Amino acid sequence: MTTNKHQPVGVFDSGIGGLTVANAISKLLPNEQIIYFGDTAHMPYGDKSKELVSSYADKITDFLLKEKNCKTVVIACNTASAAAYELLRDKYKGVVPVINVIDPMIEAIVADDTIKKVGIIATKTTISSGVYQEKFSRRKPSLNFSAVATPLLASMIEEGYYNNDISTAILENYLSDPDLKDIDALVLACTHYPLIKKEISAFFHNKIKIFDSAEVVANKLQWILQKEGLANEQKAHPDTFYVSDFTASFEKTTKIFYGHQIRLELCNIWHGE
Ligand code: DGL
Repeated sequence: MTTNKHQPVGVFDSGIGGLTVANAISKLLPNEQIIYFGDTAHMPYGDKSKELVSSYADKITDFLLKEKNCKTVVIACNTASAAAYELLRDKYKGVVPVINVIDPMIEAIVADDTIKKVGIIATKTTISSGVYQEKFSRRKPSLNFSAVATPLLASMIEEGYYNNDISTAILENYLSDPDLKDIDALVLACTHYPLIKKEISAFFHNKIKIFDSAEVVANKLQWILQKEGLANEQKAHPDTFYVSDFTASFEKTTKIFYGHQIRLELCNIWHGE
């Protein structure tokens, strides 16, 4: 497998939440062609086992690299990053860079010395993996942290429930968890959550720092592409957005994650298995 700067960047998620990351990438790096894969057939990942999520992530990465000739892969999903990053990083070491959404976030938090206690909200699988907790303890033992699973949020957002009474009630229930008391920063450790960032901030009276993956991951990708001599100077092909199960509703929902509606193409890489 040879790599050059003209090849596309592969981005994947359990569904369409990772479009928040793809959108940040296309804004920061407009010369990069994105091939997005949303595994809508297996969504949500957040209540599945690490082993199953890892096997999905492995297959999608294989597709992006071998079928779509990507020069790098961004795991635009916290749950898949928690379950499969080490496996994919080691498998493609020296071949292509694999970027996850967790490490750039950890770097941003530990670099900020005003943060004494950080909260993490995410899917059940991300929280129970202990990845954030382990990395914070190792990188900055003086940092206090607490992790709270918020399993309803991703589906709630995907159904269009945000900035309304229902989302406010659900958020209030999760965010008033005693473990999140006295935090001065909160990590939105799910790529769906940027959509409810304002609501979350309002719950904390706009007094704490809220971090989401989209921009920190786009910045990390930019840094890696430049370091590896893989940054493209001119985009020659349009972006493509694949899903493993197509419905008109998914296509309509892309608008909330990407800013404008995009065309989804069905590509079932599990076909025949
Ligand atoms: N977007 C996924 C993440 O970042 C969560 C959605 C799901 O459960 O599939 O964890």
